[in-house]
Amino acid sequence: MKSISVRAVRTLKVLRREIALIRSRGESLALVPTMGALHEGHLALVKLAKKKADRAVVSIFVNPTQFAPDEDFSRYPRREADDIAKLAAVAADLVWLPHPAEMYPANFATRIAPEGAAQDLETEFRPHFFGGVTTVVAKLFNQVTPDLAIFGEKDFQQLTVIKQLVRDLDMPLKIVGAPTTRARDGLALSSRNAYLSDAERQIAPALIQILRDAADRARRGGNVHQIRADATLGLLQAGFTKVDYVDVRDADTLGPYQSKSRRKGRALAAAWLGKTRLIDNVGV
Ligand code: PAF
Repeated sequence: MKSISVRAVRTLKVLRREIALIRSRGESLALVPTMGALHEGHLALVKLAKKKADRAVVSIFVNPTQFAPDEDFSRYPRREADDIAKLAAVAADLVWLPHPAEMYPANFATRIAPEGAAQDLETEFRPHFFGGVTTVVAKLFNQVTPDLAIFGEKDFQQLTVIKQLVRDLDMPLKIVGAPTTRARDGLALSSRNAYLSDAERQIAPALIQILRDAADRARRGGNVHQIRADATLGLLQAGFTKVDYVDVRDADTLGPYQSKSRRKGRALAAAWLGKTRLIDNVGV
């Protein structure tokens, strides 16, 4: 039987050599940035990358600068061997596994400070988050030099902030958003779902059900303040222990949603089940 393998690269020097080889053949390149603990959602992004470009590079790096000291950086699932096997099975071409000391050497002193779409929602609760994400994503873009990069819509604000980053800093690549992969009961696949107890896992799909209802009401011209209040109550009644936010926003800017403007909207939420924070969103 033919063994399936994928090239794993751990230093910038070797990465640049591999990228130069791909470019010398005139091939196009798509990047799928991840933090590992790969699930079907990530693999769907890789499959899309393979459709859109000749070669798919997947980065796996649990980026410390997007976690606050009290967050789950140390317990974030790390499953490198399993991830590499999954990437080989979907025919990824290259896995980029940078060492933290290469990403952030001792004298590292630059950080991107996004505004606009990065304001509020996630930032109200995780103020460090988008600075860390945009900085590491900019580094990954400079390292891999892809023609396009693929991000899941599950992190909808992240996708919007990265589109803004690329537009504002004239980065020469295209950002592609990919639909969220869901379990049969609607729960968005996420590496953090692994933290859920059986009882919490039963409650978790209420997040998307309530968001779908919120989006439906917004589509029919419902009052956003009322939708927000009802959705928050609905989540708490379903068993969520804390709601960070539920909101309906303009899908492009993430500014306020104007139901009469005919612009697309997005219903977004972040809520806690015990020690696990789940986020999700749906189009209006
Ligand atoms: O979405 C993620 O997994 C991360 O935020 C990303 C984009 C890989 C940056 O670390």
